[in-house]
Amino acid sequence: MSNNSKSTTLLDRILSIEIVRVTERAAVAAALLRGRGNEKEADQAAVDAMRRELGKLPIDGTVVIGEGERDEAPMLFIGENVGTKKGPKVDIAVDPLEGTTLCAKNMPGAIATMAMAAGGTLLNAPDVYMEKLAIGPGFSKGLLDLDTPPGECIVKLAKAKSVKPSEITALVLDRPRHADLIAAVRKAGAAVRLITDGDVAGVIDTADPKTGIDIYMGIGGAPEGVLAAAALSCIGGQMQCRLVLDSEEKRERAKKMGIKDPRKKYGIEDMVRGDVVFAATGVTTGSMLKGVLFREGCIETETVVMRSATGTVRWIRAQHRQLTKFDRD
Ligand code: FBP
Repeated sequence: MSNNSKSTTLLDRILSIEIVRVTERAAVAAALLRGRGNEKEADQAAVDAMRRELGKLPIDGTVVIGEGERDEAPMLFIGENVGTKKGPKVDIAVDPLEGTTLCAKNMPGAIATMAMAAGGTLLNAPDVYMEKLAIGPGFSKGLLDLDTPPGECIVKLAKAKSVKPSEITALVLDRPRHADLIAAVRKAGAAVRLITDGDVAGVIDTADPKTGIDIYMGIGGAPEGVLAAAALSCIGGQMQCRLVLDSEEKRERAKKMGIKDPRKKYGIEDMVRGDVVFAATGVTTGSMLKGVLFREGCIETETVVMRSATGTVRWIRAQHRQLTKFDRD
């Protein structure tokens, strides 16, 4: 190994811990506004905290998945440069508060999340909807396809798992647009678990047998899709996605970001074209993470951080004691 690649690996390892601070701070900032009924305020607090922490990292980072496009998001917009600019060129995908409504209503499953990879390796996706299909690890490549009818997907997956379709559970966002999908999945014999929000964790759930989720199906946000792909590229699993570019305006926006084929089906390796680190900290307790706990003299957080280079997954439970400083310095 050359000295150069040794130091890159070392930095990569250090950064995989450093990004935990970023999601922790965003989660704490949002958690202070849990249950206040104000999505925007909670999101803004998470964005501010995340941006402040990102500014301290020794990276020359570019936000490729962010709060929106430059003209609509004042901070962490797509294309924004973050970090001290004195380190490696990296792509950053952020969702400072994934599940803004969950946080505002103090419901389970809100998280602060981000991913980081070498510059030019993460899909630069516009903030539009995305069709998503995800399953956990251990299946033959290309088992399922977005263009296969949902009922057939269930039957194929059941066969691959050597179980009956009735033993399959699909996770789907509870939205009117999914009425036909839900009906088709149920008709095939499978159970549907509905979630009100939070499909980054929803996709990750497919890779954890403890959740009882076999497959994620349906349409959610494209930024959340890329973040979920980053997580699955660390822990295994398959995902196929397609941007929903259903107007000329959206196709134009996508084109500006370098997307030539508006109907392209993206696998994980098309969305994450190299090593990546992914981190998420719980804001409210959910299937994946405990939420922030405010105790006398101490704030507790739980974070999962994953690194694709090694497939290591760390669960970091932290106690933060510098209460007065914690959310400001
Ligand atoms: P926000 O945190 O931006 O509100 O996103 C929550 C979420 O549920 C995502 O997990 C999901 O991808 C997306 O919204 C679905 O969008 P919509 O609520 O418009 O159906």
